Amino acid sequence: MSTTFTLDTSTSRAHPVPEPVRRLTVPSIRGRKKNGETAEPIVMLTAYTARMAQLLDPHCDMLLVGDSLGQVIYGLDTTVRVTLDLMVAHGAAVVRGSYRSVVVVDLPFGTYEASPEQAFESASRVLRETGCAAVKLEGGEVLAPTIAFLVQRGIPVVAHVGLTPQAVNALGGYGARGRSEAEAAKIRADARAVADAGAFAVVIEGVMEPLARQITGELSCPTIGIGASPACDGQVLVVDDMLGMFERVPRFVRRFDDLAARIDTAAASYAGAVRDRSFPGEAELYIPKAKAAG
Ligand code: KIV
Repeated sequence: MSTTFTLDTSTSRAHPVPEPVRRLTVPSIRGRKKNGETAEPIVMLTAYTARMAQLLDPHCDMLLVGDSLGQVIYGLDTTVRVTLDLMVAHGAAVVRGSYRSVVVVDLPFGTYEASPEQAFESASRVLRETGCAAVKLEGGEVLAPTIAFLVQRGIPVVAHVGLTPQAVNALGGYGARGRSEAEAAKIRADARAVADAGAFAVVIEGVMEPLARQITGELSCPTIGIGASPACDGQVLVVDDMLGMFERVPRFVRRFDDLAARIDTAAASYAGAVRDRSFPGEAELYIPKAKAAG
């Protein structure tokens, strides 16, 4: 038996791929925004598994292994209990399943806030053990020195400002941010600080639309919005939200499918076929060939 592998020389990947694909790079994403304008918006979705990464990869510029996996995959109530081990396992799966997109892995709560050194330990482990290109961390001015520390040591960082879900206990919920002038000014200062510290992109989550538009106009690096503004340089959604896997649909989510309903129909039809013994059918069985005569 011979198996032909196509070696993807851009990644040394010995998986069969239809044709070698060159992975986008952090500088190419950063360079999408030129003189304050982004001609081609950055397309980002979350992904947590290799198969989903394969399906999303051709359509995306960036795949985010978000700590939202705590809720989406593991049924946790917040992201606060997500561990670095979980992020590493899912990050590696998404890198294995993707060829083109820049893969970014979230640093979970408690793995980077204490000091720049702690952040470097966590981030370097994530890069080493997953093969991803960058990490994302939540926070603004307070985390700017940490972002500078990582970037100066070769770790590309996406920052995350506005509604920062890891701070849910401090914020008291997931309501949109930047309603008051003081809060809006703080979020603007956060965005400026993380961009000045060297983040190559800034996720802006759950803020008043004019604020996200204003920040996007002020930063030289790309902004990626979620519940933010169409003026952002790119958009990100949690893939399961976008596919219609959950009944609850936050205001900022558009469902591009109704996958939960389709899974329900498929599961009901499988259950019916098992119960009425129409599955498995003859075509789904291994039937011994009749012994050759003689
Ligand atoms: O964890 C996540 O999925 C995220 C996105 C919502 C931006 O941080």
